[in-house]
Amino acid sequence: MKGVILAGGLGTRLYPLTFATNKHLLPVYDRPMVFYPIQTLLRAGIDEILVVVGGPHAGDFIRVLKNGKELGVKHLEYAYQEGEGGIADALSLAEDFADSGPITVILGDNCTDADIKKDVQTFKGGAKIFLKKVPDPERFGVPVFDEKGKIIKIEEKPKRPKSSYAVTGLYIYDNQVFDFIKKCKPSARGELEITDVNNFYIKAGKLDWAELKGYWLDAGTFKTLFLANLYWAKKSKDFKKGEL
Ligand code: G1P
Repeated sequence: MKGVILAGGLGTRLYPLTFATNKHLLPVYDRPMVFYPIQTLLRAGIDEILVVVGGPHAGDFIRVLKNGKELGVKHLEYAYQEGEGGIADALSLAEDFADSGPITVILGDNCTDADIKKDVQTFKGGAKIFLKKVPDPERFGVPVFDEKGKIIKIEEKPKRPKSSYAVTGLYIYDNQVFDFIKKCKPSARGELEITDVNNFYIKAGKLDWAELKGYWLDAGTFKTLFLANLYWAKKSKDFKKGEL
């Protein structure tokens, strides 16, 4: 399977840091943030990767990732997203790259040590999303379950979340994703929402889900960026017990 990393946007929640470079190149302990989603894909056996970049610092990606070889990426491609049309708009740029096949998609600020290799290998079609229990679901896409534990819809950043799960920025899609994106209309925040795409899959009865095992964080705010730094620093061997 091929992989797509969505790393566009202005990163306004992280101004003034993101005046200097793209959010996904900011440090998460000893490496740029985007290395983590790349590692997640590589661990899942995916080494053909498209990175969708955007914003004023898009060129910085080439200086950091180069042709991907140093990181173990066999084939690295870039696409440039004009404007800030949202995650689904960024994903639409991957249609040619997908070449009629399925794709694993990960948001460039999602740092996880979860292993999704089995999910990738056993994927048969439709969509598969990954959920994680969080203390602040209102910051995310939130699934609504029926009494049998089936997801009946996903609400994007609901004021009153109907479950304590976040839809993480990790998705596996078949090629129908591009048809669904074409049906999406801009949301109140003026973006094509990945949640709308997932809701199309739910309506078609083709959305599967799993709970993501392991650590997961979207490092898109000062607090979560700091926590991601702390987690990966603690995981390294650079600090003695009690030093952090
Ligand atoms: C996006 C998605 C949201 C998802 C989150 C995961 O939110 O819209 O559904 O839960 O990523 O990181 P955004 O980062 O655009 O606020």
